[in-house]
Amino acid sequence: MSGTSRDGIDAALIRSDGTGHVEPLAFLHHGYDEDFRSRLAAGCDAALALPVPAAHPLIDAVTAELTARHAMIITDLIDTAGLSAKDIHVVGFHGHTVAHRPDRRWTWQIGDGAALATALGITVVHDFRSGDVAAGGQGAPLIPIYHGAMTAGLGRPVALLNLGGVANITAIGEDEAMAAFDCGMANALIDDWVQQHFGQPYDDGGRIAAAGTVDEAVLQAMLDHPYFMAPAPKSLDRADFSNGPVAHLTPHDGAATLTAFSAMGVAKACALLAQPPRQILVAGGGRHNPVLLEMIARFCRAEVHDVDRFGWNGDATEAEGFAYMALRRLRGLPISFPGTTGVPVPMTGGIINQP
Ligand SMILES: Nc1ncnc2c1ncn2[C@@H]1O[C@H](COP(=O)(O)OP(=O)(O)OP(=O)(O)O)[C@@H](O)[C@H]1O
Ligand SMILES: [Mg+2]
Repeated sequence: MSGTSRDGIDAALIRSDGTGHVEPLAFLHHGYDEDFRSRLAAGCDAALALPVPAAHPLIDAVTAELTARHAMIITDLIDTAGLSAKDIHVVGFHGHTVAHRPDRRWTWQIGDGAALATALGITVVHDFRSGDVAAGGQGAPLIPIYHGAMTAGLGRPVALLNLGGVANITAIGEDEAMAAFDCGMANALIDDWVQQHFGQPYDDGGRIAAAGTVDEAVLQAMLDHPYFMAPAPKSLDRADFSNGPVAHLTPHDGAATLTAFSAMGVAKACALLAQPPRQILVAGGGRHNPVLLEMIARFCRAEVHDVDRFGWNGDATEAEGFAYMALRRLRGLPISFPGTTGVPVPMTGGIINQP
């Protein structure tokens, strides 16, 4: 998984049947260097400017490099676990979202599934989202089916929040019905802001935001956006919001206001759910930001808990989820649903590449 934060690649090894049994075995993270991070950002800008996904020299070069980097981390992961390629049934290769345009009926995750399968000598499932979007779904979020498996023993109703570049929430009711959608930004704008003003990749521990003051007028203006009131299904590209509205604030106040903007997005999402959750389990890198978590708890009037408290590694959730979805693809089981992506009927997703 190479997430919208562009922080690096997460690789997870699980043992699973693609349904109720999931056992995490190993996890690795390779961070991107500043150089690759900016090539990836340039690839995203180039992709968003295209009317449809198409060959493009910069994007093609980034795709090849991204694929090679995935081959490296997967090889390391298999080594770490003391296994070899023949022990691995399938690799789920999410790739990197360079542009997400369900309004134009396309979404684009770069990553060469066939090349990865050949490099590893393992079956690879990639391109998980395009089929859903072509069928009229949002193509996101896909992780809810894995959230369901993770929380199988925890009782219902339950709500899970992923704080990646973008935030998405999954609510699972007593009847197992899933409601899930992107809430708003999580880390993407905060990361961009602290990179620009402090030369840091993220606001470590939320310390920069903690030293600033939320500008209520700017926050309200940012929240006055039709996305927050729109009913689900709905999903976001990281470029759907910008930090233009905070540009005139001090660097610390800007960070505080962007952090509040992410937290209020979650509160607005909770208000759209049939039953606002009293307890929210959080995964993703944003859960390392206590200022963000405190605001979410306060704005949502809910208890907020790390999924780690329930025995999971919240840094590994997305990567584990795509391994799980690859297994489901091989078994022809659905990964997206009317209540998650808004696809008309439950459907499986992903393209299978044999080595
Ligand atoms: N110690 C920390 N303090 C504050 N923020 C952190 C810390 N560690 C990680 N983060 C945030 O988490 C982000 C990475 O989170 P994650 O990998 O879940 O996001 P992602 O790659 O965008 O995934 P997704 O696909 O869900 O969008 C970083 O970019 C950073 O903003
Ligand atoms: Mg990441």
